[in-house]
Amino acid sequence: MSLMEKLSTAATANAQPANKPLLEARGITKMLGTGANEFQVLKGVDLDLRPGELTLLMGPSGSGKTTLLSILGCILTATSGHLTVANEQAVGLNAEGLADLRRRHVGFVFQSYNLFPTMTALENVMVALDVRNAKVADPYAAAASALEAVGLSHRANNYPSKLSGGEKQRVAIARSLAGSPSVILADEPTAALDSENGRAVMELLAQVAKDPTRAVLAVTHDHRTLAFADRIIRIEDGRIVADERPGENQPDEHSAVPSAEAQYTIRKTAASRRDGNKRYA
Ligand SMILES: Nc1ncnc2c1ncn2[C@@H]1O[C@H](COP(=O)(O)OP(=O)(O)OP(=O)(O)O)[C@@H](O)[C@H]1O
Ligand SMILES: [Mg+2]
Repeated sequence: MSLMEKLSTAATANAQPANKPLLEARGITKMLGTGANEFQVLKGVDLDLRPGELTLLMGPSGSGKTTLLSILGCILTATSGHLTVANEQAVGLNAEGLADLRRRHVGFVFQSYNLFPTMTALENVMVALDVRNAKVADPYAAAASALEAVGLSHRANNYPSKLSGGEKQRVAIARSLAGSPSVILADEPTAALDSENGRAVMELLAQVAKDPTRAVLAVTHDHRTLAFADRIIRIEDGRIVADERPGENQPDEHSAVPSAEAQYTIRKTAASRRDGNKRYA
């Protein structure tokens, strides 16, 4: 069975009409802080995530990437705007309803892995199935199969302290996929990894995103990850200022194939031109 087939097992329940966005955000704003310290982190973000795509979210430190990811993943609520995840409205839900939506439809991958240290790799994946209330006949077999899909069967019984950074992140990816959520959100998943492991993790996320029932959005500062992206979104000062699909800028077949960086040209929007060039972390 291919990686994609393994990872998409049980995902059919979430199947949607082809190319219908799995996540739709409109006019998302977020105020943070109080009183004199109150400021607007997000200034009206519109974003669709389509199935089968790996989207990268890039931008300067403090531009609102983690805040946006937290809102899209139903961890935080927006101050205003609309959000639909897998055809379900997030706006207006109370904390419990939002958590329920998140558990059923969203998987997270963090820079710091966030594995339970007292659980083995296998148990870390199994507990996610439990939290999600995933309807799988055999949770042990499902978790083992998820670890196999990320190439870690031989580490199933290891505790996180006995895993390398790259292995820990692969366990975290297997865990994020447990129960087959429609949307995977990753916040700087390669930031703590050396380039070889970072590359392997991005390759894995790109494969995960090929599943036609799933969309993957990854925040990254790492330009080496551009080659894996179907789409690259740039955010500056709480606004999306560029949205590009590098594959659509391919040169004709007689030209030399340029590097991923060269293929990636930003179409600047009015907001970006107005704000000028910003520092990039
Ligand atoms: N709970 C909070 N209360 C007040 N301000 C906050 C809070 N969380 C984040 N901020 C501020 O909001 C802004 C955006 O933060 P955010 O974490 O979304 O940025 P980011 O783009 O993820 O940055 P980085 O690349 O450094 O991770 C920053 O100026 C940050 O200091
Ligand atoms: Mg951040």
